[in-house]
Amino acid sequence: MLFWNCFFILFIVAKAQFLKSNIVFIVADDLGWDDVSFHGSDQILTPNLDTMAYQGCPLQQYYTDVEGTPSRSALFTGKYAMRLGTQGVSIKPSEDRGIPPTERLLPDYLKELGYATHLIGKWGVGKSRAHYLPSNRGFDTFYGFLGDAVDYFTYNAIDKSDKATFYGLDLFDDMDPVEDESRHLTNILTEKAVQVIREHNTSTPLYLHISHAAPHIGGALTDLQPPLDSLKDNEYIAHPLRRLYAGLVTSLDKSIGNIIAALAEREILQNTLVIFVSDNGAPTIGRSQNYGSNFPFRGTKSTPWEGGVRSVGVVWHASIPARRYNNLFHVTDWLPTLVSAAGGTVTNKIDGVNQWKNLINDDATPPRQEVLISIDELRGWAALREGDFKIVVGDLSQTFNRYYGMDLKQVKHARMTPFYEDVLIDSETGHVFKETLNLILDVDLAEIKRSDLNLTQLYQGVHRDICIPSKAKGCLYNITADPLETQDLWDDSPDIVRRLSLRLRSFWSDLKPRSPPLSDLRADPSARGFVWLPWLENNSSSVTSTPSRPSFPLKVTSGEVKYLINININDLRTKVNSYINRMGGAIIDSVESLFSLS
Ligand SMILES: *[C@@H]1O[C@H](CO)[C@@H](O)[C@H](O)[C@H]1NC(C)=O
Ligand SMILES: *[C@@H]1O[C@H](CO)[C@@H](O)[C@H](O)[C@H]1NC(C)=O
Ligand SMILES: *[C@@H]1O[C@H](CO)[C@@H](O)[C@H](O)[C@H]1NC(C)=O
Ligand SMILES: *[C@@H]1O[C@H](CO)[C@@H](O)[C@H](O)[C@H]1NC(C)=O
Ligand SMILES: *[C@@H]1O[C@H](CO)[C@@H](O)[C@H](O)[C@H]1NC(C)=O
Repeated sequence: MLFWNCFFILFIVAKAQFLKSNIVFIVADDLGWDDVSFHGSDQILTPNLDTMAYQGCPLQQYYTDVEGTPSRSALFTGKYAMRLGTQGVSIKPSEDRGIPPTERLLPDYLKELGYATHLIGKWGVGKSRAHYLPSNRGFDTFYGFLGDAVDYFTYNAIDKSDKATFYGLDLFDDMDPVEDESRHLTNILTEKAVQVIREHNTSTPLYLHISHAAPHIGGALTDLQPPLDSLKDNEYIAHPLRRLYAGLVTSLDKSIGNIIAALAEREILQNTLVIFVSDNGAPTIGRSQNYGSNFPFRGTKSTPWEGGVRSVGVVWHASIPARRYNNLFHVTDWLPTLVSAAGGTVTNKIDGVNQWKNLINDDATPPRQEVLISIDELRGWAALREGDFKIVVGDLSQTFNRYYGMDLKQVKHARMTPFYEDVLIDSETGHVFKETLNLILDVDLAEIKRSDLNLTQLYQGVHRDICIPSKAKGCLYNITADPLETQDLWDDSPDIVRRLSLRLRSFWSDLKPRSPPLSDLRADPSARGFVWLPWLENNSSSVTSTPSRPSFPLKVTSGEVKYLINININDLRTKVNSYINRMGGAIIDSVESLFSLS
């Protein structure tokens, strides 16, 4: 009896601690796995984030989509991007596309639960029409940029297409163009975030979404634009462009410290859930190259390899037990998880899974078994994770399939490198945690945790013969055993290949097709004072024609068909049999119809 009483009281206490927590959600743009020091690298130091990770929950299997627009639309809707037409390459500045206005977004849910909702920084999920804008999607206030990336000093975005080069300002205070700034964008966004916290009326809960430009390339004037005062912090890094990139990360890390300090000053830190994530892996090479690194994972941003999608993620709350969070976690899970943390429930049909109970209680039952990693019907590939396994199918010949970033790891002289533990102890976050919450970092324990999170030790020398999917065959991995995707199991595990291919086919048949990126000449900001404002009415017709759905990138094998028949779900077998009799060999070409059997 006593036991149950205690249990009951504990439960009440646990609930009370979290009731309507404030939520501060910080998103980095194109930050790679090996660009934060809590993953084991001594090169780019991120002591504020590391402190949050050691005192909170680093997410060891956090999956995003492969680029900004699909990841961010999944975050805000709780749905896979391929259901929204936001999959694949991010929205271009003069492209007419966005999250469909019929979707309900995270800020809408939180607003209904009484939250004050603020967006600082990047939007990136549609801006051609007023109904796509953050103020019409649940945010009370907005200060930031609507497109994919802007210059860090002029806040201009440039869009180059075959037909024209467009440029204009993309920085807004609500929808007023910001004309009176000249500071580095990371500093502006940090100051705005701090201001929101200072001015917040604590009688309502706060949802503050800070979506940094850093460390994405600026791109309008030059690509790599760190704040000048960050350069001296990274003098020891050998590669000159990696050194500039590091400056963008250093200032991002300092921003985290400033925000934590502002929460403490406002006396709401003890009841604030702080989340830090990257939107996808780093583009070490290729388009948007920023010299970030996903080492030791394979691939880059825009690829379905772990380097493109297994992203940096940390959750911290004073009352959440500190530990490595190992459960599969997908970017769609934030919506149901945060709504649950705010005391609400999601009744809409979504793909996200509520992981709140697991986060606060350390529940051993994994809430999620499967993650649709990405579908890109235009580039013609798809990837899925199920349990230990990951399958990748399609044409990846145009993507970066190998290991990148090793050459960026060098430092000029080891003696110039700051001593990690000193930097860690000296972080603003560490000081604030200690002074406000009496949370004192045990450095030895932190080093043990860090070593446990360090995957670089798995990389042993050159990996020859890595699997690259083709039209005839994909790749299959046991990611639990082989996170670096070295040992292809395709030929050894035909049953698993069949099951996962069929699963992918059924997702593929559900996708909302999108058009290839198309610049709308009417978007030209010179028509609107060189400002990137919406250029279409909500209801005006689109220049793009209705896209069609390309066929699944892999031929159906007879083994797959047999597998389907043998699942024997009562009458499915007879239906499939009679279907095959009627269709003969044509079934091999027509998988979609397999899934629309009536
Ligand atoms: C477009 O839609 C938004 C949100 O639904 C609405 O606030 C706005 O007034 C609409 N614009 C026009 C011109 O009707
Ligand atoms: C904060 O909000 C409460 C409830 O709406 C209100 O009574 C109070 O005056 C507000 N405080 C300030 C300083 O605006
Ligand atoms: C992480 O592992 C790599 C490879 O074993 C090693 O060189 C590096 O020192 C490790 N990092 C830490 C902090 O121990
Ligand atoms: C995958 O590898 C892990 C680690 O070696 C192993 O425990 C697990 O059984 C494997 N999974 C399957 C389904 O074979
Ligand atoms: C769009 O709505 C406006 C009124 O808000 C109307 O005047 C106009 O005809 C509509 N255009 C189209 C293409 O439906």
